[in-house]
Amino acid sequence: MPSWTELALACARVAREGLRLPEGESALAVVLGSGLGGFADSLEEARALPFAELPGFPRATVPGHRGRLVYGKVAQIPVLALQGRIHAYEGHDAATVAFPARALGALGARALVVTNAAGACNPSFAPGDLMRITDHINFTGRNPLTGANEDRLGPRFPDLTHAYDARLARALEEAARSVGQALRAGVYIQMNGPSYETPAEIRMARSFGADAVGMSTVPEVIVAAQMGVPVAGISCITNLAAGISQHPLTHQEVVEVARAMEGKFLDLLRAFVPRAFAAVPPRQGLR
Ligand code: HPA
Repeated sequence: MPSWTELALACARVAREGLRLPEGESALAVVLGSGLGGFADSLEEARALPFAELPGFPRATVPGHRGRLVYGKVAQIPVLALQGRIHAYEGHDAATVAFPARALGALGARALVVTNAAGACNPSFAPGDLMRITDHINFTGRNPLTGANEDRLGPRFPDLTHAYDARLARALEEAARSVGQALRAGVYIQMNGPSYETPAEIRMARSFGADAVGMSTVPEVIVAAQMGVPVAGISCITNLAAGISQHPLTHQEVVEVARAMEGKFLDLLRAFVPRAFAAVPPRQGLR
């Protein structure tokens, strides 16, 4: 079995060649959540590789997730976008789920922007809101760093106090202002899924300080933090969480609302990309 380090290096090599990435460039990396993959289609001069061609990548199986790594530009800024994400509820362990984020770190991404569709446990939020993730609660009982530590990826016990980077937070707030959008801010809690939560679990999440709930994102943020990649997170609030909502939740509704919000989400992301790129210095890839 190759190590995650070896897989990340192999993946970076294939991506550099397959996407013809300019030598030494430190692009902005974006992970696109359910129903939010359109950003990758909007990149200029885009080139893409299917996950199946990337060493270490499992295949995405969820409808609404396409499964490609796309390289392109937004207003001249180089962007690497993961269109389609791997979820633990598909049967993968946390390290597998987080591997694409490690590959982006290995490619020298200067920052990782994680996005997702989420339910609101904060009753003052509404479907259609965008939320800056200020922090997270890992309620999955799993951690992608479980097992022998691979020292080239980072420390055994990484600190997560500043996992959500303050410079990127300021850049995201400024981006929202520049496009005249109200941006919520709050704590994201990850559940394992794939069942939605019970009303009692949502009351618990609320009492723990969570504002939004979803089934992704935390593993990617943990491995990025370990590698020293600054992170920004955006949740698209697609629904009120169980017990707050008056009707049963469906994946179809989540994807439909996310798609309906996509214009707004794209406006924010496009305003954020140049600001995020300028807010943090370039990084070197894994070698
Ligand atoms: N719960 C968990 N995951 C979600 C939700 C939710 O209410 N909405 C979108 N993803």
